[in-house]
Amino acid sequence: MSCRIAPSILSADFGQLADDIARLEAGGADWIHIDVMDGRFVPNLSFGAKVIETVSKLTKLPLDVHLMVVEPENFFDSFAKAGASNLTIHVEAAPHLHRQLARIRELGCGAGVALNPSTPVESVREIAADLDVLLIMTVNPGFGGQSFIASSADKVRRARALLRETKSHAALEVDGGINRDTIIQVWRAGADTFVAGNAVFAAHDPMLEIGALRDLCTERA
Ligand code: DX5
Ligand code: ZN
Repeated sequence: MSCRIAPSILSADFGQLADDIARLEAGGADWIHIDVMDGRFVPNLSFGAKVIETVSKLTKLPLDVHLMVVEPENFFDSFAKAGASNLTIHVEAAPHLHRQLARIRELGCGAGVALNPSTPVESVREIAADLDVLLIMTVNPGFGGQSFIASSADKVRRARALLRETKSHAALEVDGGINRDTIIQVWRAGADTFVAGNAVFAAHDPMLEIGALRDLCTERA
């Protein structure tokens, strides 16, 4: 199994977004992760369709859009139109998950579900086979630059088992506090897609950092 690195532009310098995106592409990023926050589901505001559209004009890389919002269905159409490749919604904000995921796929996007640290992996068992992305939050969502929650590696192991049991082909993504020290644990636990904000953008050389993170995903224990 190979790994995907998905830098989060939450940590980018928006005064030079085009340069930052070009650097991510040159550094070999697989997906661009775009964090949408509404100040309600999480205590922070970020950006919406306009920024997704701007990024989609700057790159051919898939745009992995993470909706940390209540009533995420209000944004599906505009985000799909703006160029989102994946739309990942939080199970805690989506009581009608089955219908919402179907709508995302109808719009031609990959359908993803994210789980907060306190939400059990079992909450997605019934729809696991329909998922394109299962995102395990390894911090409480809302901010970049937080510390990885140590118990997350075990949770990723349980998530990998659940995907295997349900014969799901979903990507198993982790998000929050991923860096050179933590990526190995979650890779070995079975994650295949790694969001990294601070680790990439605060690095001396963001382009090299993408490769450095990827190089750590070589062997499973
Ligand atoms: C957190 C966001 C993350 C964030 C990750 O709520 O979902 O995608 O940008 O940032 P780092 O890698 O700095 O923890
Ligand atoms: Zn995210």
